[in-house]
Amino acid sequence: MDRDIDRILLHHDQISERVRQLAVDIAAVYDHIGPTLTLVPILSGSIIFLADLIRELPLKMKIALVQVSAYPGKSVEAQEPQTTIELFGDVDGRHVLIVDDILDSGRTLRKVQAMVRRHQPASLRTAVLLRKPSKAPPDVQADFVGFDIEDLFVVGYGLDFGDLYRNFPHIGVLRPELMP
Ligand code: IMP
Ligand code: MG
Repeated sequence: MDRDIDRILLHHDQISERVRQLAVDIAAVYDHIGPTLTLVPILSGSIIFLADLIRELPLKMKIALVQVSAYPGKSVEAQEPQTTIELFGDVDGRHVLIVDDILDSGRTLRKVQAMVRRHQPASLRTAVLLRKPSKAPPDVQADFVGFDIEDLFVVGYGLDFGDLYRNFPHIGVLRPELMP
């Protein structure tokens, strides 16, 4: 696996340090709410970030899961891909923190935020490990952001290419010949 990586953008130590800081920021916001916090990680990209983040958060919390899947339909190119969103867990009336790996075009988060809002949570915030500020649209906001990165396709620490490389401990860029 390592030999497929062209260069490392964020080293695991750097990520760990930033995740610890994010946890401090998040804890400060939710400190007062008691056991009414629900984290909503978006599968599967957020799993490594989630696992590290929640162990740094000294808060009572529940975890609900969201799966966003593209489904084959009569999709026309340049049209938004058809997706289904499934939510496993109860978010009604709870303080909800959506957790995702990356805010890129914002399509995924826009849909998931809208879906959670329909459940009338007590509050709704979003945490992402990475954001590509050159692409993130103004209507899709993240309240907690680990790192702003350039518009590069990155893998590792949960992020995949063809469902591979999620277990690469750092965040890196693939060798160009492996990219489409
Ligand atoms: P969106 O474009 O903001 O909707 O991003 C949707 C999803 O695409 C993210 O949750 C990631 O799973 C994936 N994604 C976007 N950019 C990257 C990347 O650079 N590497 C790996 N996955 C990415
Ligand atoms: Mg992905």
